[in-house]
Formats: sequence, structure tokens, C-alpha cells
Amino acid sequence: MDRDEIVCNCMGVTAGEIQDAIEGGASTVEQVQEVTGAGTVCGGCLEEIQKMVEELA
Ligand code: FES
Repeated sequence: MDRDEIVCNCMGVTAGEIQDAIEGGASTVEQVQEVTGAGTVCGGCLEEIQKMVEELA
């Protein structure tokens, strides 16, 4: 996935920002939400965030 790709449209959070959050210690979707704000509005991106957590955490 391209780091510049927007994963969360509501909050404008990119794949790179989510990746950095996970590498910085966020090991659950909830923690990624806390750190980046991604997934806190419509929830439509939560599945994608979950996938990234599973792959990277
Ligand atoms: S797209 Fe992420 S909360 Fe809406």
C-alpha cells in the first residue's frame, strides 16, 4: 500500500500515518484511532485499519 494513500477519508489519515502509529506501538484498532483519529467518524475505514493492524502489529 502506498504511504500517501488516504485510508480514512473522514479524517484525511494516510496509510503511512497509520503504519507509523502501529510501528510506534499501537497494537489494536482502538489505539490507532486514539493516536491518528482515523476511524472515529463514519467507521467505514475500520476494516482496512484492522487489516493493517493484523499485518503490521
Ligand atoms: S473513513 Fe474513516 S471514519 Fe470515515
